Amino acid sequence: MLGDLDIPKYDNVMVGTELFDDAGVVRISEDVAIVTTVDFFPPVVDDPFDFGAIAAANSLSDLYAMGGQPVSALNIVGFPQKDLPFSVLEDVIRGGLSVAREAGMPIVGGHTLKSPEMFFGLAVTGMVNPRNLLINSTAKSGHYLYLTKPIGTGLITTALKNGNADEESVKVAVYTMRQLNRSASEAVLAVDGCAVTDITGFGLLGHLSQMMAASNKTAVIDYSRIPFLPGIEKLAKLDQFPAGSRSNLTSVEPDTDWKGDFERYEKLILADAQTSGGLLISVEPEMSKKLEQEMRKRKVMIARIGEVSDRSKWLIEVVRS
Ligand code: CO
Ligand code: CO
Repeated sequence: MLGDLDIPKYDNVMVGTELFDDAGVVRISEDVAIVTTVDFFPPVVDDPFDFGAIAAANSLSDLYAMGGQPVSALNIVGFPQKDLPFSVLEDVIRGGLSVAREAGMPIVGGHTLKSPEMFFGLAVTGMVNPRNLLINSTAKSGHYLYLTKPIGTGLITTALKNGNADEESVKVAVYTMRQLNRSASEAVLAVDGCAVTDITGFGLLGHLSQMMAASNKTAVIDYSRIPFLPGIEKLAKLDQFPAGSRSNLTSVEPDTDWKGDFERYEKLILADAQTSGGLLISVEPEMSKKLEQEMRKRKVMIARIGEVSDRSKWLIEVVRS
């Protein structure tokens, strides 16, 4: 988004706007770099407490994807005073606090604005040792690709708005969205040489293509190995996709090769815009068993979805085994 602007260069900026990553990392000493990231959005679920918790977990996602640890956060709130009782706002903030507490991160302030639509999120400050910094540009040919949460939250939250989602799907989606990527991040840090990013608004294909572009590689992923939230194929056939999933698919299509017959709804599932999705990890095969063990030890779901190869004409090739 900042592509055309003349952005001054600073020597201590380790991750700025050029790596297709939305957190920034600035070195302040040999051992310490500051990670800053911000995210906020309108409600994705009906329950205000759950919404606050999900927004907070989502705001921490970039930090954990980079191997950082949270230091503090500020609330960012938009609230339609006239249309909603104040107790709704309290519940949202309490939800955010519950996740911040889990992360061991104090919320030290914030800013609230009158707004026609509710929105909520956090501006997060974190820390990382520059030697441990995880980035998305170090995927190598032969690496295995792993995902740590099932996809489909865009479909389920949109179906919920349309009155088409069943209770069970919503329950599982809320559970995964409010899950911090902290344990997954710790598992990755126990293994050397991983490239990492988190799956959020651009969907699996969007974030995977960014990782491949940054690494100058091609990902070969297997549709049948990708973990889905329950009920999403039904919702996909009912076309319950948010607008973001459609625009995601449009932007990755030119760089994606579909090997075999894929329905349009299947392509859209892989491009489905996620809220607080999991980590996408590229790891060398020799380290893959260790990564799986470290994840299981921490009760984190882990699914191997494909591998990395030399750069072809495409950034992503999708097969079906
Ligand atoms: Co973000
Ligand atoms: Co990210």
